[in-house]
Amino acid sequence: MQTWTTAAYLIAALLFVVSLAGLSRHETSRSGVVFGIAGMTIALVATAIVAFGSASGLGITLLLVALVIGAAIGLWRARVVEMTGMPELIALMHSFVGLAAVLVGWNGYLEVEGGAAEGGAGGEATELSGSLLGIHHAEVAIGVFIGAVTFTGSIIAYLKLSAKMKSAPLMLPGKNVLNLGALVVFAAFTVWFVITPQLWILAVLTVLALLLGVHLVASIGGGDMPVVVSMLNSYSGWAAAASGFLLGNDLLIITGALVGSSGAYLSYIMCKAMNRSFVSVIAGGFGATATSAAAVEGEHREVNAAGVAELLADARSVVITPGYGMAVAQAQYPVAELTRKLRDAGVEVRFGVHPVAGRLPGHMNVLLAEAQVPYDIVLEMDEINDDLASTDVVLVIGANDTVNPAASEDPGSPIAGMPVLTVWEAKDVIVFKRSMATGYAGVQNPLFFRDNTQMLFGDAKARVEDILAELGAHVRTG
Ligand code: TAP
Repeated sequence: MQTWTTAAYLIAALLFVVSLAGLSRHETSRSGVVFGIAGMTIALVATAIVAFGSASGLGITLLLVALVIGAAIGLWRARVVEMTGMPELIALMHSFVGLAAVLVGWNGYLEVEGGAAEGGAGGEATELSGSLLGIHHAEVAIGVFIGAVTFTGSIIAYLKLSAKMKSAPLMLPGKNVLNLGALVVFAAFTVWFVITPQLWILAVLTVLALLLGVHLVASIGGGDMPVVVSMLNSYSGWAAAASGFLLGNDLLIITGALVGSSGAYLSYIMCKAMNRSFVSVIAGGFGATATSAAAVEGEHREVNAAGVAELLADARSVVITPGYGMAVAQAQYPVAELTRKLRDAGVEVRFGVHPVAGRLPGHMNVLLAEAQVPYDIVLEMDEINDDLASTDVVLVIGANDTVNPAASEDPGSPIAGMPVLTVWEAKDVIVFKRSMATGYAGVQNPLFFRDNTQMLFGDAKARVEDILAELGAHVRTG
């Protein structure tokens, strides 16, 4: 049995590695998902067989009930969740991993201590002695700490992403000292706990980590949330790996390490893309100083669909920069249709995608692929920015923070330093949105008041469809 389980875990782990490789490219992402599902199915079945084999009657019933309830909730949520609601769902799932790690840690402690109290009769204490016992207690302390930080941090991330909590950063005085102090206390208490494993020390460690998780994420501003979500993803992986050590489960260790390291790498890529310091994120140092953006004033110009159609008909090059609003409006299908029509008429159309456009990494790429926009005209921000100055028309479809010039021009802005799509360099810019409201980061956008910018108000899908209807009258054919 043990050999079969080990073999199944090994195959599952390999499938996870292949899955990650597949997910790294558009063309292979579907097969990446299939490999991931296959790996998880094998892992789940092997774990269930082991668990059923070692459980008593009541234990088996409880396991079955847990499996059925968990599967039902998972299927239901995955079916009904909107694409734009994915980050919240992911944050909530990270919180479950964190909570599980806390419970596994506490269980590991109580089991060993319980065994010792019963004089070691049948308890793990008979197997763990001396330095092994010390290692076990260190694993408990570290697992509980990472799990608890992940748990509350992810709940705060969920509340912020779902707009149930304000996205503005919490600015407690001396916040960096508080974070650093919490880490020092954690290190000291962990050593103490390893030497004298007392319940109250573990309880203090747990409360400290729960509070640190709240503080780390609450003190991060809206624009920096994407990096935080991928960091929490990484933490949840390490929490799972810590549980794997405690439970002696190789698969949890490997899978946790995969999630932990790939999440950390994704955070690193995002930090680079957003010009933020990686070390500063890990330390919860985002938004460390209070910021005050310069007031944005001016008159904006409006345009209607017919006006935009006329502009597009005369254009030789068009760049579309999609954002969260395109996802909300589900405008990707008419946008793809508009792209086809313009390309058929000989207009060069390309897309410029910001690394944090939308609400999850690759959000825009997924939507555009869904609407069958060819991959080769979908470019990253760094690939398109140099060409924007020689572009006739930029269509900003439901994007806001990712095209905000304040990021490079206003050092007091909360998004200062974040690289953005320099759409204002184009000859004409059309901004599709419903109002003059701010984007996710809550920052005013001076782009809307530039001389070469015109606002096309309304739902992005309806407005693109209006343009498609108008375009027939204007566009050159062939
Ligand atoms: P945002 O700055 O969020 O702006 C989206 C704009 O879309 C809003 O200003 C909104 O204006 C407009 N909009 C909403 N519904 C619309 C509709 N039906 N039709 C037309 N317009 C609509 O978008 P962005 O430029 O994509 O930037 C993303 C932001 O989210 C960044 O701050 C980023 O840091 C953050 N974030 C990203 C992620 C990831 S991983 N990508 C995760 C969490 C947070 P109106 O209300 O006036 O229509």
